[in-house]
Amino acid sequence: VNGKVEIPVVVNVLYKTAAENISDAQIQSQIDVLNDDFNATNSDFSSTPALFSGVAANVGITFVLETVNRKSTTKTSWGTRDAMKKTKQGGLDPTSPTTKLNMWACTIGGGILGYAQFPGGSTTTDGVVIDSKYFGLSGSGAYPYNLGRTATHEVGHWMNLRHIWGDATCGSDLVSDTPTHNTANYGAPAYPHYSTCTGTPVEMTMNYMDYTDDRGMYMFSNGQKSRMAAIFVSGGARAGF
Ligand code: ARG
Ligand code: ZN
Ligand code: CA
Repeated sequence: VNGKVEIPVVVNVLYKTAAENISDAQIQSQIDVLNDDFNATNSDFSSTPALFSGVAANVGITFVLETVNRKSTTKTSWGTRDAMKKTKQGGLDPTSPTTKLNMWACTIGGGILGYAQFPGGSTTTDGVVIDSKYFGLSGSGAYPYNLGRTATHEVGHWMNLRHIWGDATCGSDLVSDTPTHNTANYGAPAYPHYSTCTGTPVEMTMNYMDYTDDRGMYMFSNGQKSRMAAIFVSGGARAGF
């Protein structure tokens, strides 16, 4: 990141019920969480164990809420095939996806909290989808997904980060300063949690790109920061930002 990356955000709210029509304050609470988590100003950042304090990152990317679009619909759930991103399918097309982060708040269904598109995909479906129940701080969404970290995790994917376990047993996330994890972790694992992969490293279960509860995740690493920064430079997949 040369200097600073500032991400304009467009939030597309699709609602059938009043609860799905999340308030502007609820939306702003999510932007605030993103700004905290990507600038190491989250109150739990200091919980990072000493073992990882040398690689815990201030990513230094800021998010600015620009527009909220709202649309009443008859759909009760939207699934994970991008229908919410298409006006013709009852959703809302993204606004200026090469220069703005589009977020959709809607009911996804199937127990899915959110999903993201990696850099390099179609601009017509670019952005992140967060179930309205988990969008922002303590809305209708209950513990353990009440701290807005679903969006932090999904925006991590949108900025090219892989799951910390590499979606395979002892897989790679293509980041060298994150330990090799056996598999996904859930809940809030007690520290230290040892991997059974080569070298039996202590796993970085508190990383946003694991699958722990919101209270269990509170840091990105410097290697992840570099991977994110790379997409915003000239020639990168999100150079328009
Ligand atoms: N992609 C994951 C899902 O769809 C999101 C996991 C977010 N984790 C969290 N603690 N909020 O379920
Ligand atoms: Zn994920
Ligand atoms: Ca790694």
